[in-house]
Parts: sequence; structure tokens; C-alpha cells
Amino acid sequence: MQAENLLGEQMENPMVRLSYAYATDLIQARLRLINADLTERNRRQIVRSMSSRIKSAESICKKLVKKGHAVTFENAVSVLNDIAGIRVVCYFCDDIYQIAAELQRQSDFRIIKKKDYVKNPKQSGYQSIHLIVGVPVTYRDQTKEMRVEIQIRSFAMDYWAELDAQMCYKKDAGQILHVEREIRDYSDVIAKVDNRMLELRKRIEEM
Ligand code: GTP
Ligand code: MG
Repeated sequence: MQAENLLGEQMENPMVRLSYAYATDLIQARLRLINADLTERNRRQIVRSMSSRIKSAESICKKLVKKGHAVTFENAVSVLNDIAGIRVVCYFCDDIYQIAAELQRQSDFRIIKKKDYVKNPKQSGYQSIHLIVGVPVTYRDQTKEMRVEIQIRSFAMDYWAELDAQMCYKKDAGQILHVEREIRDYSDVIAKVDNRMLELRKRIEEM
């Protein structure tokens, strides 16, 4: 409990929170430029919505315990990639790759890790592309690299993930075998519709 309280206090430190906020603001501003560029080039809207969050001290503690680490501030900032997170929801499933490619072409932050759960969906049925990026945040003569997790997914994938998060993900119901199978089936159904919508769009574009 004491470790948890101490971590909570350290996470509340304005310099810490504002450094994470600085990094997510920079990425979000870049994503708005990327959206404007892609929207012009594709002649249609690409990004539907974007949101960001900073993980609460409580879920930071839970995750450290789950991963088998001591609950300390040092462990939190060095082990966890998703203290700061951004979610980008686009219209079509091919937009995901355009956005990810543009992010990878930026030179003022680096890509630390890329996970493609669209090509290789998780066992649960979860689909998204995750990029972990490192953003340098400079204050006076000190530069710290702040990590941000960017989740990119289609509107359809987001619909599935939101309902899954509410009903199954990290919930007891998610452990029940037939529930787990059913939600995974729906992920397949949604992926099929997502792909057919993409094919339809391409046929319309050729007309
Ligand atoms: P978490 O402890 O879940 O954050 O996992 P991780 O840090 O090992 O990384 P992973 O790439 O598996 O997941 C990162 C994030 O993706 C999670 O925090 C969720 O936001 C999302 N996610 C991953 N798997 C699922 C899933 O099965 N269902 C839903 N709804 N979201 C998921
Ligand atoms: Mg997470």
C-alpha cells in the first residue's frame, strides 16, 4: 500500500505528467498533419477520431505487479510502454497502414517497437497496429525520452475492441471458454465486413 501511495504521488508530479502530456501533444499534432496530408492525397477523410490518455497510478501498479516487477516509479517509467497512450481510429482498414507508414517517416521521434495485430490478430480476436514511439522532451539542458503507445485501428476494429473491453478483456467473462470463442468469431465477422467495405470503396474509386 505504501509503495502504491508513493508511486501515486510521484506520478502526480507536474513535471512527470506534463512531460508525458508534452509527448502525446507532439504526436497528436503530427497526426493531425498526417491526416491533412493523407486526406488531400486520397481525396477522402482518413482519420475518424483520435484520443489520448495517461494511465492512472492504480493501473500502473496493477500492471507492474502483473508483470512481476516491484511497484516503484523507476520501474513504471522504464518497464511500461503505455503510461501515455494515443488511439487513432480511421475509416477503412487500409488507412491503418498509411498512417503507420507516415509515422515511421518522421525524424524527430523514433519507433521503438511495432506490433501488427491486424496481420496477426491476438488470440482474443483483437486487431490494431501498435507503435511504441520515443519522443525526446527537452527542458533546460536535459533531454528525456518519453514513450507513447499509439494504437491505430479501423472504425470496425474499434467497435469490436470497445465492446470486448466492456464485456471480456481483463474481465472474468473473458475467461469463459464459449464467451471467448464467440467474441473471437465476431472479430472474424467484422474483419470480413471491413474487407468487403474496402473492396467496395476500391470498385467505386475505379468507376
Ligand atoms: P496490456 O497489459 O494489456 O496493456 O498488454 P501489453 O502491454 O503486453 O501489450 P498489448 O500489445 O498486448 O496490449 C496493449 C493494449 O492493447 C492494451 O492495453 C489494450 O488497450 C489493447 N488490447 C490488447 N489486447 C486486447 C484485447 O484482447 N481486447 C481489447 N479490447 N483490447 C486489447
Ligand atoms: Mg495497455
